[in-house]
Amino acid sequence: MKLESVRGMRDILPEEAVLWQRLEGEIRALFALYGYKEIRPPVVEPAELFARGVGEATDIVHKEMYVFPDKKGQMLALRPEATASVVRAYIEHGLYAKGDLAKLYYLGPMFRYEKPQKGRQRQFHQYGVEALGSLDPALDAEVIDLAWHLMERVGLSREGLFLRLNSIGCREDRPAYREALRAHFSARREELCADCQRRLAENPLRILDCKEPQCQEAIAAAPKSLDYLCPSCRAHFEELLSLLGDLGLAYTLDPRLVRGIDYYTRTVFELCSRELGAQDALLGGGRYDDLVEVLGGPPTPGVGFAGGMERLVLVLSQRQPLDAAAPDLDAYVVPIGAEARRKALELLAQLRRRGVAADLDYLGRSLRKAMSVAARRARYALLLGPDELAQGRLTLKDLRTGQSSSLLLGEFLANPRAFLA
Ligand code: HAM
Repeated sequence: MKLESVRGMRDILPEEAVLWQRLEGEIRALFALYGYKEIRPPVVEPAELFARGVGEATDIVHKEMYVFPDKKGQMLALRPEATASVVRAYIEHGLYAKGDLAKLYYLGPMFRYEKPQKGRQRQFHQYGVEALGSLDPALDAEVIDLAWHLMERVGLSREGLFLRLNSIGCREDRPAYREALRAHFSARREELCADCQRRLAENPLRILDCKEPQCQEAIAAAPKSLDYLCPSCRAHFEELLSLLGDLGLAYTLDPRLVRGIDYYTRTVFELCSRELGAQDALLGGGRYDDLVEVLGGPPTPGVGFAGGMERLVLVLSQRQPLDAAAPDLDAYVVPIGAEARRKALELLAQLRRRGVAADLDYLGRSLRKAMSVAARRARYALLLGPDELAQGRLTLKDLRTGQSSSLLLGEFLANPRAFLA
């Protein structure tokens, strides 16, 4: 059997990893600017967490979750998302007792057994934030501002993006809306796909997520959640729209947006790219004011979002192809002769301890070949030959300008940065 990575799970190879590292750096820095702190929950959780948190009737739990018994028979799941994990940790460690908002962020792999396609994988990576402890619509606006700001920061223009926004109400108004949907779809039951016929009994809201062509007409004519909001949900949503206006953040109201997860209440949104195909959501999120309670904690509202790293990488690399050939070192050491090589190893160790990214040839290449590797990988070559050795010097060659200079080894090592511009 040929050993290959599992379908839908791929290797991120070094040249692509450079972009990942840059993005992860930008994301962490931006989250910190908004006062979020990192949390790292485990990748494996009790399966029950997602059944209760995300919802039995959702595709994520019903069809896509990797579930398996451990050696003692406990049912575990590879996390399909991290909001439920963060909330579990929030409750387990009593983070609510700190008397302030908990603003948490995470980065890491998630797993969903979906049909792989462009922008959709079985192991994918999310970056996300969760703000727990306030009902204030200003916090919804802040989270949406953070989402927009992140896109600007990584270099995506507002023109290529759009924000879909909706409010799906709370547990007060949800029963009436659910009944209206049930009545609407029951009357058109014959048009619906088999999955939606099941959803009709379990949770008719989930029908609005369906992508099957045969269901689209019935979905288009379905009642809208905005028409069923209670006065306080309506006021919350209106205040959010007005705050987004103040911040100059664009949005498109989308009455069909319900976001395939059961924990959402009130605000839901997705930031989408015009440059991606069917999987156009760069990130999605919303409020989940009941989730902490559902998972056994004290009533605590929350709001957040998560985005897919792969989709961000896809849009960015569509615009600017990855530069596999970019130099990754400050200096490449080229010794000439066995004695110089010993000295070169010492020089390398010292350079690296002074924060200089440096490497040398371990393949016994000729001088000419070693210089061509140097030119590809570094800005400077450091040549050490018998003459240099005898005089305690080295030759520094600027590989961009071709200029060489002879330096005293001791002087160079005292402050290598002064010579490596
Ligand atoms: P979600 O919409 O299921 O929400 O996922 C968020 C983002 O993860 C999507 O917009 C997409 O960019 C990416 N994503 C999802 N599935 C895949 C996949 N199979 N392959 C590649 N990328 C994917 C959540 O997960 C919620 N926990 C978000 C949230 C946080 N809501 C409140 N707080």
